[in-house]
Amino acid sequence: MSSSAADEMKRAAAAVAVGAVRPGMRLGLGTGSTAKHFVDLVGARVRDGLRVVCVPTSERTREQAVALSIPLSTLDETPALDLTVDGADEFDAQRRLIKGGGGALLREKIVAAASTRMFVIADQSKQVATLGAFALPVEVDRFGALATRRHIEQAARDLGLKGDVRPRVGRDGHVFVTDGGHLMLDCAFGAIPDPETLAHRLAAIPGVIEHGLFIGLATAIIVAGRDGVRTLGEAV
Ligand code: 5RP
Repeated sequence: MSSSAADEMKRAAAAVAVGAVRPGMRLGLGTGSTAKHFVDLVGARVRDGLRVVCVPTSERTREQAVALSIPLSTLDETPALDLTVDGADEFDAQRRLIKGGGGALLREKIVAAASTRMFVIADQSKQVATLGAFALPVEVDRFGALATRRHIEQAARDLGLKGDVRPRVGRDGHVFVTDGGHLMLDCAFGAIPDPETLAHRLAAIPGVIEHGLFIGLATAIIVAGRDGVRTLGEAV
């Protein structure tokens, strides 16, 4: 698929999601190239007079929203949201996700968990039968990062998973640091047959701030393909 075809699909999914936005809503704004389309479309509706308040999931999204004059809030001021719309690196038929390719998984998960509904918007290339082709991002504290990494590797081995766990390096060639000041480990485990058990094991490791398995959070996935847009779950 060409990158412009993929981008058109991302925008088509975002356009369906923005159709669910109603005046007065409190919205979570996701991060990444797909979520960027949704933020653009919200910005256009705000320009046309829509009244909403939004919580961004990253500094990057905050900057985009500010540039579009979208009214912003924080979870401290607005702790309960009506709808969050975000992208994903992978999803399966049970609406389980891998997120964090863009480095924002911690805020994305906090914002999604604060929302009554979470819509994921994606092009069809993101759907997989089994999660794990995309290396699972795990956000870890800088303190003791090597020890934390070893615990992650052990947990993976215990579950029969193999593969490299590597600290993420940014485009600038330096170690990648998240908005929260943490490191990101990309875990190339391959197929993850039991994401729930891996999620529990990772969450129990001291030093793991958050992992990129989003389970039970997405209420709908809006998937754009060559034949149009379809929805897994209820996008109402
Ligand atoms: C950022 C994310 C993104 O939603 C995910 O990486 C998908 O990004 P894109 O829409 O650019 O493919 O989880 O942390």
